[in-house]
Amino acid sequence: MFTVQPLACALGAELSGVDLTLELSPKIFKELRRLLVEYEVVFFRDQDISPAQHRSLAASFGPLQTHPAYNTVEGFPEITILESTAENPSKIEAWHSDMTFREHPPLGTVLRSKIIPAQGGDTLWASMTAAYDGLSTPMQKFLADLTAEHDFSYGFKESLAEPGGRDRLAQAVADNPPVIHPVIRTHPESGKKVIFVNSLFTTRILELNNGESEDVLKFLFEHVVTAEYSCRFRWAPNSIAIWDNRSTQHKPINDYFPAHRMLQRITIDGDLPY
Ligand SMILES: [Fe+2]
Repeated sequence: MFTVQPLACALGAELSGVDLTLELSPKIFKELRRLLVEYEVVFFRDQDISPAQHRSLAASFGPLQTHPAYNTVEGFPEITILESTAENPSKIEAWHSDMTFREHPPLGTVLRSKIIPAQGGDTLWASMTAAYDGLSTPMQKFLADLTAEHDFSYGFKESLAEPGGRDRLAQAVADNPPVIHPVIRTHPESGKKVIFVNSLFTTRILELNNGESEDVLKFLFEHVVTAEYSCRFRWAPNSIAIWDNRSTQHKPINDYFPAHRMLQRITIDGDLPY
């Protein structure tokens, strides 16, 4: 079974004692899922899994998604390649949950590292459960019934502004019109309340006027990344992070330019936020 080494007080645990190149028994998988919901992001080291093993691990949690804007591993359309080079550095810098522009945002993400810079390139995660718990009761009540718009075009605005970007992403834009999610969602497994707006994809709160919406979102985007709600992971090749995308946000630290960094990601289908 797993040995659990908690990382920070709000979230995160490093797990060891289980070989992910082997098929997980139902009992071990059930424990992994329980640990994921409890710790919100879990990490493994020195797990040199193949693309098929990566897919099989992610598929244990549920059906898999594909992403409209990223390259994929040959023969594995579910495995997106997140790569940053001197010629084509990563453009995602904002805190976010993955793909909240979907009506059913991912349940979670299984990210494995292949090429990691000698220094830098860490990732931060923040607990949206802790962030919600850190709000005053009047603020929790104020946010309770609000809804917000999430938009693929907003999150990928820099890629769309590149020469040829609008043509390259035309289908992705057409397939992903803006969606509406509750500002505060209930985690379907833990029953806990979490803040579910993020600075990459959330554009506005529908029930507020424009100025109010901007100010409330600005407050929430700063609040959710309070250091005490976060943890930080130092990657090495063959590390794996599995995060609960319903209860966390993350941010890649882009401090390693022009070094090469490459990870491979699978997102797992989630349900309709409520
Ligand atoms: Fe992400």
